[in-house]
Amino acid sequence: MVNELVRHDTRELATWDEIVAPPEVKERLANQALLSLLIRPSSPFVATALHGMCTLYGPPGTGKTTLARGLPQQLASYVPGRAVRLIEINPHGLMSAEHGQSQQRVDELLGDYIPSLAADGMPTVVVLDEVESMAVARSAASLAANPADVHRATDAVLTALDRNAQLHPHLFVVATSNFTDALDEAFLSRSDAAILVPLPDAAALRAILRSTLGALGDTYPTLRRLADHPDLAAVAAQAIGLDGRRARKAVFQALARDRATVLSPGLLTLEALAATLADEAALTTTAATGGRDAAN
Ligand SMILES: Nc1ncnc2c1ncn2[C@@H]1O[C@H](COP(=O)(O)OP(=O)(O)O)[C@@H](O)[C@H]1O
Ligand SMILES: [Mg+2]
Repeated sequence: MVNELVRHDTRELATWDEIVAPPEVKERLANQALLSLLIRPSSPFVATALHGMCTLYGPPGTGKTTLARGLPQQLASYVPGRAVRLIEINPHGLMSAEHGQSQQRVDELLGDYIPSLAADGMPTVVVLDEVESMAVARSAASLAANPADVHRATDAVLTALDRNAQLHPHLFVVATSNFTDALDEAFLSRSDAAILVPLPDAAALRAILRSTLGALGDTYPTLRRLADHPDLAAVAAQAIGLDGRRARKAVFQALARDRATVLSPGLLTLEALAATLADEAALTTTAATGGRDAAN
């Protein structure tokens, strides 16, 4: 059943406000979505060529899924009825369908089921998470590597997006992708905007570490002091190369280094945190270099 592919449980670690990204990323996503939801219902598709779709792309762990899920709440106060619905699709589920079934399931899901969930006309954000699993490039290389069924399914996605663009102007699709090289050109050209969500810079890493330490500070007050410590900036600089998710996790890895800080997290020092971040960042550098070497 296609309805198994729609996730209703959207509990997350972080919310829109806790994602530290360049302001223009959030602004552009929210504006693009709002423009689409406000303008498309009264303007013909032929005039706007707007598909009502945005693609967020960038490295894993940079906040793309969290931003997509948080979008409805950002828009609600601006739309008629003051509510925006969230529907989330898991494309991995689509593609694991039995051989020959994917195309039909895509048709059913995007063409029928999603529009039926939003049949009341309420503005609706549809999250197509990790869309690369669905919209793989139909290049020669990828044709060789992927079963024909996946390509028929990609066609079905494109057809459904075109049809929904014309028939359902109250839908706004946010696709996320952990990479872009393999994204289908025809898919990207249907995106009204493709927005890069970058790895955090030093200032963003500091803000992310501060937020994680600050949250723990409610229970362990000395960690609040670390969160506000001026030296946290220098510590964050050790973390360059880490994504937001790994930067948050590194705080817990630092605690896990020593049984004493496991049992009393308030004993954590900035030195221990810096050492963990440096180790983790070194791992990403090694992985990146290893990847390049292998490719050359
Ligand atoms: N830019 C960021 N700022 C703060 N936290 C982040 C950021 N990116 C990721 N995180 C943390 O990692 C978690 C997972 O992020 P997610 O939205 O799934 O990333 P993506 O979809 O890009 O892989 C978030 O809930 C948050 O705790
Ligand atoms: Mg994601």
